[in-house]
Amino acid sequence: MSSIRTAVFPVAGLGTRFLPATKAIAKEMLTVVDKPLIQYATEEAVAAGMENLVFIVGRTKNAIIDHYDKAYELETELGLRNKTELLKVVKEVVPPHIHCVFIRQSEALGLGHAVLCAEPAVTDQPFAVILPDDLIYNNGGPSCIQQMVDVYEQQQGSVIGTQTVAMEESDKYGMVAGPRIDERISRVDEIIEKPDPSEAPSDQAVVGRYILTPAIFDKLKTTGRGAGNEIQLTDAIAELRKTEEIYAYSFEGRRYDCGSKIGYLEANVEIALQHEEMADAFRQYLKALPLD
Ligand code: G1P
Repeated sequence: MSSIRTAVFPVAGLGTRFLPATKAIAKEMLTVVDKPLIQYATEEAVAAGMENLVFIVGRTKNAIIDHYDKAYELETELGLRNKTELLKVVKEVVPPHIHCVFIRQSEALGLGHAVLCAEPAVTDQPFAVILPDDLIYNNGGPSCIQQMVDVYEQQQGSVIGTQTVAMEESDKYGMVAGPRIDERISRVDEIIEKPDPSEAPSDQAVVGRYILTPAIFDKLKTTGRGAGNEIQLTDAIAELRKTEEIYAYSFEGRRYDCGSKIGYLEANVEIALQHEEMADAFRQYLKALPLD
């Protein structure tokens, strides 16, 4: 059984980078090939043994709540029409052993504040945080969060997913630095939210995967506003580091930044090329496409 039973999905953000698509729908409901982004994230958590899914939602996010609810009408109709395969697809969104909890973040005060909103549902256990904007694909191998659960079990401390980025991109990410423990694991000695490239401690960027000990909640309660005038998870992690060892883990797999248009397009193309039903037809289509 996995030592991490709960995953938190902060999904209250406005998605302004995808306007007008996200005027009335949640950015996490945008589809990559045939599934909404949020479902890639929850499937990653469920495959890693997590059973409690905690969604921190905002007021325009009701479609997410509906997606994880039982769809009586649809299921009855599909049953009557003997569409067994489709019925299975619909039911598999929430496997029977999974509990979903929805918490409203009534003010958009930042990622740190969103994670703090999850405290009543997480209680006193280590937990995962997954940002659905970061779609991470590991071609048949263990998912990013599964790899991090393994690191948590080995190190018994918070684990942050990281990746190397170009130095000039440091102001888009939390940036970490610290000594290497092995090929993929480092200790976090420094962590800073969106530093200017001239102030970045390294080229190691935080991606949207965390395993955190519950001590983070007390740190979040006293974290003031930081970068972008928001309560930053990164700042609370920097405080936690003073009392607990924290590890950075350079995951195996490909990350798509689906919070950006180019990353979202890349995810659609590359995942379509791996898709059981679509791959052949899509590959042929791309080959025939005049690219100049
Ligand atoms: C958030 C975090 C940042 C992290 C990033 C990963 O930023 O605050 O530390 O590097 O996610 O995607 P956001 O992209 O929400 O501004």
